[in-house]
Amino acid sequence: MSTFSAPKGTFDMLPPYSETFNRIRIQFGLELRDAGFQYIETPVFEDTGLFVRGVGESTDVVSKEMYTFPDRAGRSLTLRPEGTAAVVRSVLQHNLQAQRLPVKLWYFGPYFRYETPQAGRTRQFHQVGAEAIGSQDPLVDVEMIALAVEGFQKLGLRNFRLQLNSLGCKECRPAYRAKLQDFLRALDLDEDTRRRIEINPLRVLDDKRPEVQAQLTDAPLITDNLCEACATHHEFVRSMLDDLKIAYEDTPKLVRGLDYYVRTIFEFVHDGLGAQSAIGGGGRYDGLAQELGGPELPSVGWALGIGRTMIAMEDEGQEIETGADCDVYGVALGEAARREVFKLITELRLADIPADMAFDGKKLKGAMKAADQSGARYALVVGERDLAEGVVQLKDLTTGDQTAVALDAVVDTLKEKLQ
Ligand code: HAM
Repeated sequence: MSTFSAPKGTFDMLPPYSETFNRIRIQFGLELRDAGFQYIETPVFEDTGLFVRGVGESTDVVSKEMYTFPDRAGRSLTLRPEGTAAVVRSVLQHNLQAQRLPVKLWYFGPYFRYETPQAGRTRQFHQVGAEAIGSQDPLVDVEMIALAVEGFQKLGLRNFRLQLNSLGCKECRPAYRAKLQDFLRALDLDEDTRRRIEINPLRVLDDKRPEVQAQLTDAPLITDNLCEACATHHEFVRSMLDDLKIAYEDTPKLVRGLDYYVRTIFEFVHDGLGAQSAIGGGGRYDGLAQELGGPELPSVGWALGIGRTMIAMEDEGQEIETGADCDVYGVALGEAARREVFKLITELRLADIPADMAFDGKKLKGAMKAADQSGARYALVVGERDLAEGVVQLKDLTTGDQTAVALDAVVDTLKEKLQ
């Protein structure tokens, strides 16, 4: 054991889980590419001001959870707690909005929040995210939701639920906010919550404590207070989801932990996860580009938590990959054979046949055991006598059958057998 371990709230992504992790990344990449999304990678740290402005000063994410530090020149930098603000920053910086709209981008990577670690909640976590920037069309909201659903389903998940709400816009939310504040001020609440009423009253609706929830039964709901344009938008999203037979739960008290949202918001929750049940979430953020100094660019997107998605997969008994299986495993007996087998496995790899071999001059028994453990279908066994005859022994590890194959026919023979 080493003197050091990974910092609190972080983890090592080890095999075989790391294989599933990679599979999720690849799967979303292919799916999103097919839907017209291109990959974007932004820095892991940004100007602190970007998140303060973009995510919102009053949010827990910004006020309590950021990893903020001065660099050696005294600039205030922050490890990114989420992806959307940085993607919009990058779009504006490089004028990507001059292209065909919406600009569709996807990303994958580590994010950082100083939270109390618990199952499904870590200080470094990974997200896959997708953003469609520069469209007001409610059909794009539906497209985003459908893509997340498709992704979860392709991972084999069934027991997740989609919660849906609208947060209104700058036309209708202020009046609703005032109405809600009036209602909340009359309740019996602790000091902290009272303060929240003044700063971010919608978050009070999301309070998990039963004694608070009990008082919120008659709270005014945003969905009863939308302006006509927001109501129409929301109705379109709902009816289109109905058309697609995507089930959703109207969740009028749903709010999100980031300030940039307007209109459509949604969360995916999984019941196998305990307290941290959100496996993903997102929504519309029509004002963010302007907030960051750019033009008006109505946008919508989501991010899914990879760690929580993996816990959900495990809960549903979805197969976790067992590792890097190869098709062919080389077993060399003697120094000359080692060189030959190594050349052969290199050729096999060039021919896209996954291959590996026993190293460190393992004896026959140990090397054959390694071949079995590798998951390979065939072993290439080569001894001095085989070399002299210009052949290798091709052993089928399932049946035990063994045949001699000429050295220069090995790749073609295996290509045929493994078709
Ligand atoms: P978010 O809801 O803050 O949204 O995070 C998205 C997902 O990341 C969560 O549903 C959860 O699965 C995962 N996640 C968040 N914090 C943690 C944590 N401490 N440990 C493990 N997993 C975590 C956003 O980040 C928005 N940027 C999503 C978005 C994109 N909205 C529009 N576009």
